[in-house]
Amino acid sequence: MNLKRMVGYEAAELVMDGDVVGLGTGSTTHYFIEKLGKRRENEDLRVMGIPTSYQSFFLARSSGIPITTLEEHDVDLAVDGADEVDTHLNLIKGGGAAHTMEKIVDQSAKRFVVIVDDSKMVDQLGKFPVPVEVIPQSLRVVTEELKDMGGIPELRMAERKDGPVITDNGNLVVDVKFDSIGNPKGLEVSLSSIPGVVENGIFAGMAHEVMVGTVQGINILKRI
Ligand code: 5RP
Repeated sequence: MNLKRMVGYEAAELVMDGDVVGLGTGSTTHYFIEKLGKRRENEDLRVMGIPTSYQSFFLARSSGIPITTLEEHDVDLAVDGADEVDTHLNLIKGGGAAHTMEKIVDQSAKRFVVIVDDSKMVDQLGKFPVPVEVIPQSLRVVTEELKDMGGIPELRMAERKDGPVITDNGNLVVDVKFDSIGNPKGLEVSLSSIPGVVENGIFAGMAHEVMVGTVQGINILKRI
């Protein structure tokens, strides 16, 4: 049973005629974008998408979803995946190194819905390292700061390309393992305050809803 496809397809049903939709990045949102493209064609929906990465940009284009930007439109609904979701709907994102644009688009949305399979649910964030996008020239000093904060930083290396991952914005990604993350909002703010850090993958208090795919069906968690 493909749980990512199940939640991705179901989330596409949330989109209404006329919506401007934030298009998340990853293998789960892949299904969302694919299904949204089919709905647009079959139901003649007037929707537009604001991509969060080159991945979602190209997929939206091949799925026939017209593209717009945050300069031109507000986001009615953003749908995005996550690497971890805690019981308060705080997230770790950035497994695909797209968390900077994802945070901008998701944060600006009137409604931000996260789609995951149940393997992403945790009691407390921190099993997954926190992705931190870093200006290349600041790598050494940022890495030292991250160690001083108690993290274990590791520069993310590329696959099928020599050297490090380069983000869509031309920066590096450092994955930082913390022992435990008791205060996600506090850590998010602290990481963002390091000069040279562009954005970090903690999304605290942002998600309005999480759709969790399980073998029994879809559970919907709402922020209270
Ligand atoms: C990309 C992300 C993704 O949403 C996150 O990594 C989840 O990906 P997937 O749906 O492939 O498990 O944050 O930067």
